[in-house]
Amino acid sequence: MAKDLFYRKSTFIFDAFGTLFKTMPLEDSLERIIGRKAGELLLIWRKKQLEYSWLRNQMNAYVPFNEVTKEALDYAMRKVGVADERIAELLLPVYDQPTLISSAEALLKTLRVNGKQTAILSNGTPQMLKNGATRTGIHKDLDALLSVDQIRKYKPSPEVYQMALNQLDVKKEDALFFSSNQWDVSGASTFGLDAIWVNQYNETKESLPFGQVIEVDSLNAVIQYFE
Ligand code: LAC
Repeated sequence: MAKDLFYRKSTFIFDAFGTLFKTMPLEDSLERIIGRKAGELLLIWRKKQLEYSWLRNQMNAYVPFNEVTKEALDYAMRKVGVADERIAELLLPVYDQPTLISSAEALLKTLRVNGKQTAILSNGTPQMLKNGATRTGIHKDLDALLSVDQIRKYKPSPEVYQMALNQLDVKKEDALFFSSNQWDVSGASTFGLDAIWVNQYNETKESLPFGQVIEVDSLNAVIQYFE
């Protein structure tokens, strides 16, 4: 079933941060600055970054993702009670020079060899996506870098997934969406896209609405479908 799905689809659309790019690196470096609170700060930071994007959607108060990311970090630092300016200097560049999740490059190359159209669809700013894709080298295997900044709405707004279909000139039934973030998989699949939940963090299934979703445990597992 899944193999047919992968072969039938012409366009493979990927979430970026958390799916192709790591979002929680540098814990060791951060520990050298703030000690054992490092893990707690990173978790609060990521959680608030997403929470703020959803709240700003509801309020029609969009600001670009680098601002939301900074605001979330400011909160996380207040929450854990640290104020060292080296923290922002260490962490904020992560979103402009991310680390690739293993198998991301191999998967994109496999898709290109199989004649698929590939794209990123991300909350990240156009500059973040351009920097991230070029610095990790995956720009060579991507046909498009789509940022929500074009419509000033964050995922999981349905308008974001529709924008991707419009920009890629592809019908909903010919596209397949990939994300490690369940809220994103829920958003895409309730919009009507077939979606793959890349559960590479071994998460517990959320009680969210899901459409046609297949769970895989890694990006590498997707490559197997083409061998
Ligand atoms: C992205 C993350 C926020 O959109 O899921 O890249």
